[in-house]
Amino acid sequence: MTETGAVVDLGQAQERVQELRQQIDYHNYRYHALDSPEISDGEYDQLFQELLALENAHPELVTPDSPTQRVGAGPQAAFGVVEHRVPMLSLANAFSPDQLKAWYSRARNLLGHDVEGFVLEPKLDGLAVSLTYEDGRLVVAATRGNGAQGEDITANVRTIRSVPLRLTSGYPPLLEVRGEAFLTKQAFEYINDERAREGQPVFANPRNSAAGSLRQLDPNVTARRPLELITYSMGYAEGMRRPRRHWEMLEQLREWGLKTNPLNAQCGDLAEVIERCLSWEHQRESLDYDIDGVVVKIDDLAAQEELGSVGREPRWAIAYKFPPTQATTVLRNIGINVGRTGSLNPFAVLEPVKVAGVTIKLASLHNEEDIARKDIRIGDTVLVQRAGEVIPQVIGPVLSKRTGAEIPFKMPTVCPVCGAPVVKPEGEAMVRCTGGVTCPSQRYEALLHFVSRSAMDIQGIGEKLMAELVRAGLVFDSGDLYRLIKEPLMELERMGAKSAENVLASIEGSKSLPLSRVLNALGIIHVGERMAEILAQCFGSMERLLAASQEELIDTDGVGPKIGSSIYEFLHTERNIDLIRKLADAGVNMMEAERPEGEQPLAGTTWVITGTLGRWSRLGAGERIKALGGSVTDSVSKKTSYVVVGADPGSKLARAQQLGIPILDEGAFEQMVVG
Ligand code: IVH
Repeated sequence: MTETGAVVDLGQAQERVQELRQQIDYHNYRYHALDSPEISDGEYDQLFQELLALENAHPELVTPDSPTQRVGAGPQAAFGVVEHRVPMLSLANAFSPDQLKAWYSRARNLLGHDVEGFVLEPKLDGLAVSLTYEDGRLVVAATRGNGAQGEDITANVRTIRSVPLRLTSGYPPLLEVRGEAFLTKQAFEYINDERAREGQPVFANPRNSAAGSLRQLDPNVTARRPLELITYSMGYAEGMRRPRRHWEMLEQLREWGLKTNPLNAQCGDLAEVIERCLSWEHQRESLDYDIDGVVVKIDDLAAQEELGSVGREPRWAIAYKFPPTQATTVLRNIGINVGRTGSLNPFAVLEPVKVAGVTIKLASLHNEEDIARKDIRIGDTVLVQRAGEVIPQVIGPVLSKRTGAEIPFKMPTVCPVCGAPVVKPEGEAMVRCTGGVTCPSQRYEALLHFVSRSAMDIQGIGEKLMAELVRAGLVFDSGDLYRLIKEPLMELERMGAKSAENVLASIEGSKSLPLSRVLNALGIIHVGERMAEILAQCFGSMERLLAASQEELIDTDGVGPKIGSSIYEFLHTERNIDLIRKLADAGVNMMEAERPEGEQPLAGTTWVITGTLGRWSRLGAGERIKALGGSVTDSVSKKTSYVVVGADPGSKLARAQQLGIPILDEGAFEQMVVG
């Protein structure tokens, strides 16, 4: 190549590099700040790879704001100090609506008039960060520190994908913005699992883990943590018209390419503010990140300026704090509950403690490995957490409270219920009782599973009645349910003629459910709802499943050796074959309906169902969708077509709202799938 040829090449390369950076920045913004990508991950990777290749060929074109340079720096020896141009303030707290009212009347008295308009923002439980942009380029990122000076964490913050390294356009020459860096609950769990596997101490909550991730001397460590950053205010700006309202400022941040919280809301008066704060308190569990309250801000920036601050707390904003969901208490003992497949599940017996208004005495402890990993000992003071409706959890011991008298936990070597030896199958975290049907606990739990909603959906038989049925000798295995008759049933405690009839009708109704339900109900190890459906679809009938070889099972799509062997073993154990025969003889359906050949109006659509529906079970609704050609998944993503929402929906609703996915209530769902 000639000399001039090379120059022309460099010129072309430079042009293309700039074009690629602009495109990549734009798609990064769509993906990370707006949650609304326009291109696939593969297409994005292609652009990125092309840029990398060009920069490799022409290292002179590499600039620090290139999207390839998020992780550029090596480990540092210490963090530098950053002086904040404008102090980073803290917030006063309100713990009740009355305290919110008191805050507002003080502000109103100082101003001498009523305030119009508030902005509400979720109070993210992470780490406050300041970002300085010069000519639209990120030059400094700092922690809050003591409010006047913070630590320089620029290299680490550059690795966060929702932080643009360059602003889009229209920005002032010097801009400092503030926001909160945090981890999603899912990312937090993932990091803790990884730490536990590597034998490192686990983080107590997402905030600690976000702080730990950002205050890393090696940015390569930060880069591996899926941190997010949401901005909520401007600290300092030079050479721009100041917005008049806080809301306008948030819009401005978004236009420059910074991420703001889509849940932020404007409120007219204080009554509305209080109403919203209370409703967010109920929704907090459904978000996929932790919030510990709501930040209430007076929208009018002139009023903000007039009100100023006392000490480090502005008078124009307040944090409405939710009750804490964590508390410490003493672990009195570790009990064992034996599950339907024989798993020995340890649980914590606690000194009763009130958490978010509810007294808790028992909490979950997962398994033996988890207890050992967290080094939880009987007698320890432990940190417990209660989140919404889920079972309270023991997070870990408070080591500073240890006296030395605590006793490490040891899993029993025999089943505490039936005395049979226990085994620990290879590759499993669970210890299992070998008693099988002779273990009363396994039998009882298996029966409860059999009648549960996702299995045979036999309504009217709950824990109490099942215990009665077993105690009275009316039911030993699930086959006996189909032999129940009215008279002895009626004689049980709290059973009238009407309830006995209802129970029998529900048992009768369960006979016609498809094979997939029966397979789930049998409680085969590793076979849950999804696997039962796969098997029922592939084999069509119990007869064919019983005739299948182990290889055939293992080779079935989605099954594999571990599950395949478990199914084979179950179906070739005499006791189980007898039970299946007993069920079939009682008239329980053992076939899966063929997928209809006819119209498939939902073909190509993907659905998620969350919460409790009134007229449909979740499984029934899912079956209907599939019969019409749609597919049903567990998690909401950008590919989800519809989310059907019932009562008490989980985090999936919030996720769907965030992603702008159509949400259907039961009525709208029925209109689409019926008639
Ligand atoms: S505004 C002058 N907005 O809460 C106002 N803070 O307790 C200062 N925080 O240090 C902050 N979400 O780390 C504001 N939407 C939000 C926030 C928020 C979380 C944190 C922030 C601050 C702390 C004050």
